[in-house]
Amino acid sequence: MSTAAIDVRGVRRRFGARAVLDGLDLTVAPDEFVAMLGHSGSGKSTLLRALAGLDPDVEGSLRIRPRRSVVFQQPRLLPWKRVLANVTFGLGGPRPRERALAALAEVGLTGHARAWPVTLSGGEAQRVALARALVREPDVLLLDEPFGALDALTRLRMHVLLRDLCARHRPAVLFVTHDVDEALLLADRVVVLRDGRISLDRTVELPAPRRRTDTAFAALRTALLRELGVPEEIVEVTA
Ligand SMILES: Nc1ncnc2c1ncn2[C@@H]1O[C@H](COP(=O)(O)OP(=O)(O)OP(=O)(O)O)[C@@H](O)[C@H]1O
Ligand SMILES: [Mg+2]
Repeated sequence: MSTAAIDVRGVRRRFGARAVLDGLDLTVAPDEFVAMLGHSGSGKSTLLRALAGLDPDVEGSLRIRPRRSVVFQQPRLLPWKRVLANVTFGLGGPRPRERALAALAEVGLTGHARAWPVTLSGGEAQRVALARALVREPDVLLLDEPFGALDALTRLRMHVLLRDLCARHRPAVLFVTHDVDEALLLADRVVVLRDGRISLDRTVELPAPRRRTDTAFAALRTALLRELGVPEEIVEVTA
């Protein structure tokens, strides 16, 4: 029996004649943090949607722990509910209000519990989305470019927050991003989705704290950019 948090084998998703996912295999261990890179249109969101149980038409074997939460690029808060009610929305179990307040405290938003979503900054709204995901104590956290819409400084703060939250809650994480450095700063493993399958799978063994300027960091970045098909002159500039 598999002990993996995510174990997908031969996953295929066709849209018309085109197989966006084409025999994809991927395993993620419990409490492992895997970042997924891939071109726009390579099928990253398609895979995440399937893993979230939102795609009845996906083929192949998908095993994932049932306690899973998803955070999308946009926070997708319900505008007619206050922040706290957004976090408790659909939440079962005992004392939902207390648990939601604790989750908001973890993301530094205690003071915003009664605020309306429209009054939040992008970073604050995404922190609410993280609190809403974490309050469910997921075994698997699926993140689809969660910081893609944030400015660089807020993004850095979110990296620290996400790392802390993951260290505390230890979910398995599948984190989709376009940002190679973000992947290398956060993940235990980085995979590239290309032509419907995982074309590169690299364990990130870098000394802590990870620094973009380290030689090993730069070497991994170069390998990933090459795999993503970035032209050689650009790889050299960013290396
Ligand atoms: N419901 C659908 N019907 C038809 N085609 C679809 C559907 N959903 C996704 N696709 C196509 O599948 C491909 C993969 O889409 P997907 O959203 O998974 O890409 P992605 O890797 O997440 O890209 P991005 O990095 O831009 O978010 C795209 O070409 C998209 O147009
Ligand atoms: Mg996408």
